[in-house]
Amino acid sequence: MSETLENLSSETRQFPPPADLAANANVKADAYEEAAADRLAFWAKQAERLAWAKPWDQILDWSNPPFAKWFVGGELNIAYNCVDRHVEAGNGDKVAIHWEGEPGDTRTVTYSDLLKLVSQAANTLTDLGVTAGDRVMIYMPMIPEAAVAMLACARIGATHSVVFGGFSVDALATRIDDADAKVVITADGGYRRGKPSALKPTVDEAVARTGRIEHVLVVRRTGQEVEWTDKDKWWHETVEQASPTHEAQAFDSEHPLFILYTSGTTGKPKGILHTTGGYLTQTSYTHHAVFDLKADTDVYWCTADIGWVTGHSYIVYGPLSNGATQVMYEGTPDTPDRGRFWQIVDKYKVSILYTAPTLIRTMMKWGDDIPAKYDLSSLRVLGSVGEPINPEAWIWYREHVGRERTPIVDTWWQTETGAIMISPLPGVTAAKPGSAMTALPGIGADVIDDQAQSVPNGGGGFLVLTEPWPSMLRTIWGDDQRFIDTYWSRFDGYYFAGDGAKKDADGALWLLGRVDDVMLVSGHNISTTEVESALVSHPSVAEAAVVGATDPTTGQAIVAFTIPRGNVDTAGDAGEALIKDLRNHVAKTLGPIAKPRQIMLVAELPKTRSGKIMRRLLRDVAENRSLGDVTTLQDSTVMDLISSGLKTAKPED
Ligand code: WT7
Repeated sequence: MSETLENLSSETRQFPPPADLAANANVKADAYEEAAADRLAFWAKQAERLAWAKPWDQILDWSNPPFAKWFVGGELNIAYNCVDRHVEAGNGDKVAIHWEGEPGDTRTVTYSDLLKLVSQAANTLTDLGVTAGDRVMIYMPMIPEAAVAMLACARIGATHSVVFGGFSVDALATRIDDADAKVVITADGGYRRGKPSALKPTVDEAVARTGRIEHVLVVRRTGQEVEWTDKDKWWHETVEQASPTHEAQAFDSEHPLFILYTSGTTGKPKGILHTTGGYLTQTSYTHHAVFDLKADTDVYWCTADIGWVTGHSYIVYGPLSNGATQVMYEGTPDTPDRGRFWQIVDKYKVSILYTAPTLIRTMMKWGDDIPAKYDLSSLRVLGSVGEPINPEAWIWYREHVGRERTPIVDTWWQTETGAIMISPLPGVTAAKPGSAMTALPGIGADVIDDQAQSVPNGGGGFLVLTEPWPSMLRTIWGDDQRFIDTYWSRFDGYYFAGDGAKKDADGALWLLGRVDDVMLVSGHNISTTEVESALVSHPSVAEAAVVGATDPTTGQAIVAFTIPRGNVDTAGDAGEALIKDLRNHVAKTLGPIAKPRQIMLVAELPKTRSGKIMRRLLRDVAENRSLGDVTTLQDSTVMDLISSGLKTAKPED
C-alpha cells in the first residue's frame, strides 16, 4: 500500500475532560454507539430537536448521488425555529444578542426584540416584492441587523447570499450576477480600527455595474455621508415602521436557504448551496454537542464574521435555534487596544469562546501579559476553526485563555459541509493538542491513499467523507457538473474534501492542510502544516508559513517564512543564529528530510480576509516570480514588506 503523505510529527500530550463537565455533558460517549448502530435513525432523532410544521416521509433520499435530499417531504420555517418558538416557550425576555460596537456602544437584543425585528424585515422585503425563491444579497458590518436580514430572508423563503463586508466592488458584482439577486441589504458603513469604514459606495458601484438590483435597503450605522439613488431605502424608514407581526409559513425541507461563495484557489468563486431541514438539524445539533451549550447559563461568543460560513452556522442558525445568549462584536481585536477580546470575555462573562488559529497565534505574538490582565474565569469551553491549530498554539490557548481548566475543541469542517464534522466532544474526548480527533456521531470520515484504500493508523493521505450528512452542500449554484467534478469525481463514492490528513497510532485524525500545499521533497510528500507546527514549537516563534520551492536537487525544497515572538532579538548576528537554530530544531523534531533549505524572518504573513495563509504568494516569492493575484489579500502592503525584507536574505547551505 502506498502512503501518500509522510507522518513526521508525534504528540503524546492528552487532556481528558474536566470531571464535572463530563458528568453533565449534553452528549456522552453512548452517542457514538447509537449513531453507529443506526445512522439515519440517529439523525432523525436530532431533527426532532426542531419544530416541524409537517413531518418528513423519508430521512434520506440518496438514490441519485451526489444529489442528496434529507427529511424528504418535511416542512419547517427556519426563522420560527430560531426565534418564535423561544418566545412562545416563555423566553421572550431572554437576551439573544449582547452586541458590542467597536467604539464601545452596546445593544441588548432579546428574543422578543428579535421576533419583532425579523417580522418587520420580513414584511418590508415582501413589500419590496421579494418572494420565496428570490435571491437577496447581504453586505453588512457585524451589527444585529445582519442576523435579522438573514433570518428575515429565511422567514419568507428567500435565499440569502452574504458577501463579506471587506470584499471589493468586483467581488460583490460578480456574486450579484451569479446569484441573479434582486435586492441588496447593506449599511452606510461599520467601525473598523477606530474609524467608520464605508460600505454603501461599494454597493452603489456594484449595483450600477450589474443592473439586476431593484432595491437597496440601507441600515444607518455610522451616520457617514452617503450618496442616494432611487433604488435606496433606509432601513429605519421602512423596516422599523413596518408591522411587527408576520405569520411564518413553512417551507419544504429541501428549500434553498443560502448561497455562500467560496473562492478556493483557482477559477471563479463557487456558490455553495445549502438547504433548510438538514442544514438546521446539523448546525443545531453540533452547536449543542460540540460546545455543550446550556441555554440557561452559558454566554457564547463566536468571533467570526457573518460573511463566512462560521458566522452563518455558529452565530446565526446553530446558536439561535438552540435559544443561546451570545455576544456579537463589530470590530477588530486590537481596537482600542490588544486586550479587547479579553475585556469582552470579562465584561459579558463569556463561557464558550469559538475563534480561529490565526487569532490565537496573533495573541501569542502580542504576549502572555495581555490576557493575564483580565478575569477569564467564566470560560469553560474553547473552540478553534479555520486551519490546523499547531500544538503550541493549542497549548497557549489552554494555558493563557483557558487557564488550564477548559477543554479545547478543534473543529474541522468547510463551507461545503455546512456544519462541524470532525471534533472532540468536550465531555467525552481526551483531546490531543493539534488534532481534531474523530468524526462526530453520525458522520463518516476516513483517510485514504491514492488507490482509495483506507490507510492504517500511523499513515497519511487524503481526507474523505464516506457517508452523506444532513448539512452537506446540495450543489454549486447553477453548476451541477462542477459540483460533481470538484468533490465527487476523484474517489468513487466518497466526498473529497481537498485536505491532507493522517491517522495517529490511536486512529485520531490530524489535518495537514490543503493537498495543493503538500511539498514533494526528494520523493517524500511532506505537509506544510507539520513543518509549520515544528517551527511554532520553538520558543522564539509566533507564526510560520512553509512552502515548497523548485529545487534542482530535491525537486522541491522547504522554504519557511517565520514571525518571531514580540520579545525576540533578530538584529544582525542574533537573527543569523536564530535561523540556524530553527533549521536544526525542525530537523530534530521531524527528521532531517524536513529541514528547511531557507528560513526568512518576517514581520507579517499574507493572509486571506478569513485569516488563511496565502502560500501561493509565498511560493511566488520563494521562486523569485512576480506575484500572482493579490486581490483576496487582507492587507495588500504585506507582500511589499516581505519582498523588501528578503533582498538581504541569502539561501542557506
Ligand atoms: C478549509 C475550509 C469551517 C469554517 C471556516 C473555514 C480548513 C477548517 C479546520 C481545522 C484543520 C481546518 C481546511 C478546510 N480547516 N477547519 N479545525 N483543522 N483545517 O471554512 O473557508 O470553507 O475552509 O479550512 O483546509 O478544508 P472554509
